[in-house]
Amino acid sequence: MSSRTMVAGNWKMNTTPAEGERLAQDIMETVGTPATKVVFGVPSIQLMSIKALTDKHENYFVAAQNMHHEDGGAYTGELSAAMLAAVEIDYVILGHSERRDYFGEEDGLIGMKVAKALAAGIKPIYCCGEKLDIREAGNHEHVVGKQIEQALFSLSPQQMKDVVIAYEPVWAIGTGVTASPEQAQQMHAFIRGIIARQFGDAIAEDTTILYGGSVKPGNAAELFEQPDVDGGLVGGASLKADGFAEIIKAR
Ligand code: PGA
Repeated sequence: MSSRTMVAGNWKMNTTPAEGERLAQDIMETVGTPATKVVFGVPSIQLMSIKALTDKHENYFVAAQNMHHEDGGAYTGELSAAMLAAVEIDYVILGHSERRDYFGEEDGLIGMKVAKALAAGIKPIYCCGEKLDIREAGNHEHVVGKQIEQALFSLSPQQMKDVVIAYEPVWAIGTGVTASPEQAQQMHAFIRGIIARQFGDAIAEDTTILYGGSVKPGNAAELFEQPDVDGGLVGGASLKADGFAEIIKAR
């Protein structure tokens, strides 16, 4: 197992606290100790309860799904990096395409969140990915390259070591259409290349790059077989214990 590997679930705005606990417990019981890091991206209200469960099991971690870029203050409804760090949350998903689309988040703002998370000792899972029209116009590498450059290139190499990248083509998220293993590999290799140019080969070799967008038990293995696909960020299929367990075992 490469230390790069990871399977992360993004529960989005699903599950009550009781349902979330059941789901996490069922997955951990079915899988046992996984051969890869497993991350549960849970609704804010469940961060502490799921953290208490994962702490009892090796290789399971918890992620918040968002975080504010300021230290604190009059930001109704938001959570700060310090709050997440105080309860030892391991990861935070930042820049998900739903946050970009529905909440107007852009690379500059997401970059500030990435820096804040790192300063608080929380590892960001930075999401990037192109929309369908961009892919059809053949501009996907250019657009994803810019997303990475704008949000991550001001980090130091030391900071970059703690960043996980999730490539999630927007046209594949929640649509049932998955990028082909070749399309995923091509983009992941491109991303690793630009990380290498900016931060050096050693850091690029160690960077975890996840694929996201309609990952399911039936397609996980062929995606994870690709040399630069280190695992997945899984939405819908992370809500069913059996299916998510299969995806974890495929890694
Ligand atoms: P999906 O979502 O697996 O349901 O396509 C992935 C994501 O949004 O992270």
